[in-house]
Amino acid sequence: MDIGIDAIGLFTPHWYVDLVDLAHARGDEPAKYTIGIGQDQMTVTPATQDVVTLAANAANQLPADSLDERLGMVIVGSESGVDESKAAAISVVKLLHLNPWVRAFDIKEACYGGTAGLLAARDFVAAHPDKTALVIASDIARYGLASGGEVTQGAGAVALVVSAQPKLLVLHDDALAYTEDIPDFFRPTGMTVPVVDGHYSTSAYLDFVGKVFARHQSQHHDQYGDYAALLFHLPFTKMGKKALAALAPAMNDADHQRLTERLAAASQLSRRIGNIYTGSLYLSLVSLICEDKTIRSGDRIGLFSYGSGAVGEFFSGTLQPDFANRIDQAGIQQMLSARVRLNVLEYEQVFTAQLPLGDADATVPVEESTARFSVGGRANHARWYRDQQ
Ligand code: HMG
Repeated sequence: MDIGIDAIGLFTPHWYVDLVDLAHARGDEPAKYTIGIGQDQMTVTPATQDVVTLAANAANQLPADSLDERLGMVIVGSESGVDESKAAAISVVKLLHLNPWVRAFDIKEACYGGTAGLLAARDFVAAHPDKTALVIASDIARYGLASGGEVTQGAGAVALVVSAQPKLLVLHDDALAYTEDIPDFFRPTGMTVPVVDGHYSTSAYLDFVGKVFARHQSQHHDQYGDYAALLFHLPFTKMGKKALAALAPAMNDADHQRLTERLAAASQLSRRIGNIYTGSLYLSLVSLICEDKTIRSGDRIGLFSYGSGAVGEFFSGTLQPDFANRIDQAGIQQMLSARVRLNVLEYEQVFTAQLPLGDADATVPVEESTARFSVGGRANHARWYRDQQ
C-alpha cells in the first residue's frame, strides 16, 4: 500500500528584515550574509504569533479536501513550545475545529521533530489505512540580537497531511536514522535562546550527512542517478550547498549539475524566510515544487533531516501525478509578496516585545495581518487565541 504526503500547507509571519540592512547595522559585509551564509531576508515574528498560531495558520492553508472525518492523529513537531506540559497539537485541534476523536501530541528533538512526526504518522496510517494524520512542524528560531546565529533566525510552520494513496509524495520504506549524543545546540529549560556552537554544529551536520548517506547506499543500493533532487534541512541555505559538496566527490557531472540546480530551487523560500527548524526540510520541498517547473510525477526525491543533539535521517519519496496542485502555490506567493519590510530598529523592538514566558495575565495588541489565528494574550495562566474568521 502506498502511504505518504497528501497535501502541504505553509505559513510564515508578515514581517521581515532585509539582510543587507542587517549587515550594515552589524558592521558586516552584506556578501557574508547573502553569499557566505546564503540568506537574503529573515522573518520577524510578531508577538501575535507563537508555535500554536503558526501551526494552525499553516494547517489553514491546506486544500479544503485534505482534512476530513478520517483524521485519526494530530502531531506538532516543535522545539519552541509555549507550555512545558500541554501539547500545542491540542490547541490546534480546538482552533481548527477538527474531529476530536484523534490522538493529539507533540514531538521534540530539535529540528528533527517534524520528521519524527511524519514517519510516526506513516507507521500509523500503515496500521490504520482508513485513517489520516496531520503533522505540523512549527517553530520560531531565535538566537538573540547581534548574536552569532542572528542572521539564521526565522519563523514558520509546514502542515503535512499523511494518508494512504497520497496525492503528493509516496514515502518509500527506506528511512535510515543515526543518533549520537553531542553538544552542538541545545536550549536548557527556562532559556529563551539556545546554547550553540555554530561551527561545531555545521561540522557535526556534515559528519551525519556522510555517515547516513554511506550506510543508506550500502543498505538500499541507491545511487545519485536515482534522485531527481536531494533536499536537506536548511538552517541557512549555504548548509545545503555544503552538504551536497560533501557528497559530490562520488557523483558524476550530470548528477552533480542536476542536483545543484534543484537544490538552488529548493533553497529559494529558505533564503526569504530563514530557519524554521522542524519545518525547514519541508519548506525546501515546498520551494522545489513552487520554483522548479522541470520536476515531474514519478521523480524520486531524497530528504535529509537533521536535528541538533543530534539525530540525522535520510528517506525518499516519489512525486505523484497531482503533486503541484496539493500546495496552494498562488497563496504562498501572495503571502510572501504581502510581507512588510521592517528596518533594523523596528525588528529589534519587535524582537524584545514578545509575550513573556510564565503565567502572568497579559493582552497582546491586535495587529494588522492576513493571519487567521493570532495570540490574544494570557488569562488565568493560560494563553488565549484570536480567530479572525
Ligand atoms: P559566523 O562565524 O558568523 O560566520 O557563523 P563565518 O565567519 O563562518 O562565515 C560564514 C561564511 O561566510 C563562511 O563561508 C565565510 O567564508 C563566508 P564557509 O567557509 O562557511 O563556506 N564569508 C563571506 N562570503 C562572501 N563574502 C564575504 C564573506 N565573509 C565571510 N565578505 C554560522 C556562521 C552559520 C556558524 C552562525 O550563523 C551560526 O552559529 N548559526 C546557527 C547555528 C547553525 O545554523 N548551525 C547549522 C548546523 S546545526 C543545524 O542545522 C540544526 C539547527 O537548525 C538547530 C536544530 O536542530 O534545532 C541549527
